[in-house]
Amino acid sequence: MKIFFLILTIVSSFSLFARANNVANFEIDEINLLAKKNNVKLIGNIKRGKKIFSSRKVNCLSCHEAPIKEEKFHGNFGPSLYRVGSVYSKDEIRLRVINAKIINSNSIMPAYYVKINNPRTPKNFLNKTILSAQEVEDLVEYLYSLK
Ligand code: HEC
Repeated sequence: MKIFFLILTIVSSFSLFARANNVANFEIDEINLLAKKNNVKLIGNIKRGKKIFSSRKVNCLSCHEAPIKEEKFHGNFGPSLYRVGSVYSKDEIRLRVINAKIINSNSIMPAYYVKINNPRTPKNFLNKTILSAQEVEDLVEYLYSLK
């Protein structure tokens, strides 16, 4: 009986934990390290994703190489993303864009779909995410197309 309650406690704390990390529009699975889209209206676009990827707003290129010849500077703090679409599923890529710190809490990669709320966050960014859910989907579509 004791064992049963112990298992029940472990299982329910796991699900609480998973729920606590869920974000609007996406369902985060911390055990399998992926994030599913739960808003069917969100459809990503490869072209828009590529544009966001190279934009100064998110600066993916400051840490990653990608097949974008027109951009001169590609960083190498992070792994090359040349064939990332052959390595990961869309759900796996999505979690990395939403919050790479769920996989590696020491990651230097910013969490792009987590509300920012730090003591010195400027007021206009307080409780906002860096990317919108649509922008996350555009990036996922673009990265998944890199085979
Ligand atoms: C400050 C550096 C930095 C920035 C900026 C950054 N990343 Fe990363 N990224 C990393 C590092 C480092 C990793 C390796 C895993 C880890 O340590 O979290 C990573 C891992 C990844 C991965 C998984 C790659 C693999 O092969 O495992 C993807 C996909 C990714 N980043 C996409 C992006 C996108 C898209 C952006 C912009 C929206 C971005 N990153 C911005 C540093 C960065």
